[in-house]
Amino acid sequence: MSVKVSPSILAADFANLSLECSKIDKSNADWFHLDVMDGLFVPNISFGMPVVRTIRKLTKKPLDVHLMIIEPEKYVTEFINIGSDIITVHIEATNNLNQIIDKIHESSIKAGIAINPETPISDLKEYIKKVDLICLMGVNPGFAGQKFIESTHERLKELKQLIISSGSNALIEVDGGVNKDNFQDLKSNGADVLVAGSYIFNSPDYNIAIDALK
Ligand code: DX5
Ligand code: ZN
Repeated sequence: MSVKVSPSILAADFANLSLECSKIDKSNADWFHLDVMDGLFVPNISFGMPVVRTIRKLTKKPLDVHLMIIEPEKYVTEFINIGSDIITVHIEATNNLNQIIDKIHESSIKAGIAINPETPISDLKEYIKKVDLICLMGVNPGFAGQKFIESTHERLKELKQLIISSGSNALIEVDGGVNKDNFQDLKSNGADVLVAGSYIFNSPDYNIAIDALK
């Protein structure tokens, strides 16, 4: 079974962003995964609107925007306006998840919820039928290149069960630490989308790495 692959640009060479994006654009990758970090929700600052806007000009592939920021409700409209196709906010980052999802859907783009390794899967229950995607973190968010947390496999099975039992159409995206050693298990346990940063961008041939995941 084929999964979607969403390369995380965080691991790309920013001195050559245009070239890096062109390589991904020409590859069989399905989406561009863009990690926005604010230094508050996570202990790192990555990039914001200018970079998302720039990448929007470099590809027609869907932009899968992962907001690791507090109070995402303040910025969602702008991320919609600059051309995001999927906007994912963390369940831990806001008390206004329902309103945020509604606002994203009003613009006819897709809404996702990301969930950290320590947050119970059952917390997703009340939202599972209304979102398009769950981003299951395989690492604590903040940095590319971290080691995959093995308990993510069990959490993936639990999430898959929740999606099936509730009749949800949400896709499962696994993000963080995805590599050649774990992607097969992730696929067989129900992952629909694999995000990969260092596995792709540290490899000599991005096409081979992307095709291997698919
Ligand atoms: C982690 C980010 C991930 C990360 C993935 O905070 O959300 O998207 O960049 O990078 P790798 O695949 O290197 O773990
Ligand atoms: Zn991410």
